[in-house]
Amino acid sequence: MICLPDSRSLDEAASRLRAGELVSFPTETVYGLGANAWNAQAVAKIFAAKGRPATNPLIVHVASVAQLELAVPESLPSHVTDGLQALNGFWPGSLTLVLPRNSRIPDIVTAGLDTVGVRIPAHPVALDLLRRCEFPVAAPSANPSNYVSPTCAEHVDRELGEKVAMILDGGRCQAGLESTIVTLVEQPPRLLRAGALPVEAIAEKLGLSVTTLLRHAPTKEAAAHDQSQLSPGRLPEHYAPRTRLLLASDVESQLRTDSATAVATPTKFGRILFRADSPLLIDATEIICLSEHGALDEIARGLFAALRQLDHRGLDAIVVDTCEETGLGRAIMDRLRRACRGSQRG
Ligand code: TXA
Ligand code: MG
Repeated sequence: MICLPDSRSLDEAASRLRAGELVSFPTETVYGLGANAWNAQAVAKIFAAKGRPATNPLIVHVASVAQLELAVPESLPSHVTDGLQALNGFWPGSLTLVLPRNSRIPDIVTAGLDTVGVRIPAHPVALDLLRRCEFPVAAPSANPSNYVSPTCAEHVDRELGEKVAMILDGGRCQAGLESTIVTLVEQPPRLLRAGALPVEAIAEKLGLSVTTLLRHAPTKEAAAHDQSQLSPGRLPEHYAPRTRLLLASDVESQLRTDSATAVATPTKFGRILFRADSPLLIDATEIICLSEHGALDEIARGLFAALRQLDHRGLDAIVVDTCEETGLGRAIMDRLRRACRGSQRG
């Protein structure tokens, strides 16, 4: 059920969360599928609704830095406190920090890790809801596992509508890409997922180079975690539409490979443009232009909705523009590369 947020529906949403039910709520990045993070049974419903592997930990949401204590121990190592101090100006915002977890956070939330990802979202509805909750709210993106994240209430309703008690409608997400994830547990801090907050801004606040923040996992063990549970976003099948997705920069060579290997060559194309004057490259039956002049924030905001829209049109392939991998462009290209690999699964 999609509900407009007002004081009554927000109170009801908080009560339903308190009672162990699932509530989807808007954030500035994407819509979340929320459950009381202190209630293992409620959190189990998230995994069931999404078809999410139990090895993939959830992000916990709180309303303020003061509420961090709902998820994180009172006393933190000094390098963690330093990192928090340097970065908490980005909150509320599109930054998730991986921190030590306290004993009230059950194993199911963190997939057994001794750390927890925490975020204060910058959306008035999310903040209002979280302020009404005296517990932290665990919330992954509100999409079936492996599908494109939702950026409006209708996206959530279409795939998970039957599985949630309420969907709070906060309109279209402003950022349109998931949060940037940084671990403060490692020294120095390290990027786990590019996202809506550019890494350049984070590196500057930490007094680190971007290269240091982007470095690979330090140990074999950490690398194995990255591959399996810490950053399942790195698995190829993440964020993929069902329709085959091709990057505009690869389309020519991909189609050549298709004909050389006797793969059926696509004939019905959708096309996502990043600017009005991008070359079409193929004969498209459906065209979506995300930004007149290639503004990265506009591209990010509209990208997932465009992928979803074209995914329902019975096309053979979608060809999408590429952009430079700096600032927001890094997260845009990260999601597109994964979507390309994931969409060619079968
Ligand atoms: O923007 C967002 O981050 C959205 C909104 C709803 O806040 N949430 C989101 O959640 O994208 P999800 O589940 O789709 O992605 C969460 C990512 C996972 O890839 C997970 O591996 C990582 O966060 N994560 C969570 N806890 C972690 C931890 N303790 N250590 C490392 N990575 C963690
Ligand atoms: Mg997700």
